[in-house]
Amino acid sequence: MAVERTLSIIKPDATRRNLTGKINAVIEDAGLRIVAQKRVALTRAQAEGFYAVHKERSFFGELVDFMISGPVVVQALEGENAVATYREVMGATNPANADEGTIRKQFAESIEANSVHGSDSLENAAIEISYFFAQTEIVG
Ligand code: RTP
Ligand code: MG
Repeated sequence: MAVERTLSIIKPDATRRNLTGKINAVIEDAGLRIVAQKRVALTRAQAEGFYAVHKERSFFGELVDFMISGPVVVQALEGENAVATYREVMGATNPANADEGTIRKQFAESIEANSVHGSDSLENAAIEISYFFAQTEIVG
């Protein structure tokens, strides 16, 4: 195992319900360190660019509308095996399938309004972190 960084986004369904602190507590209790964080209102172009990999999927338009429906909190997380660790902490995409104790099991409203995003590979983590943060904004 190695120390890695991954990108997390606390999604609009969670910021609307004032859950940033509760989600951050789950992240920190899992041993991950929040090494960068900012609250932003994504533009449509930013959300479309971020989720470009899904642009052919049937839910792409709805997903972009959802991601710009309220503020998000973008974060870089650091820790041992951070990419896989955070995917475990998040739980399954559909909260109905998420394990007990995961963020999505505890907080998600639906398969779309599922409270958090996490990078799915180390390669994508680096791309996604640089989409939102300059190196000078990340303090490990
Ligand atoms: P994420 O990228 O946000 O961390 O989520 P994920 O890997 O678990 O899921 P992914 O397949 O990458 O899907 C990205 C996001 O699209 C929304 N979604 N909606 N309506 C639907 O069937 C559907 N499927 C996915 C979710 O917000 C999901 O997190
Ligand atoms: Mg994904």
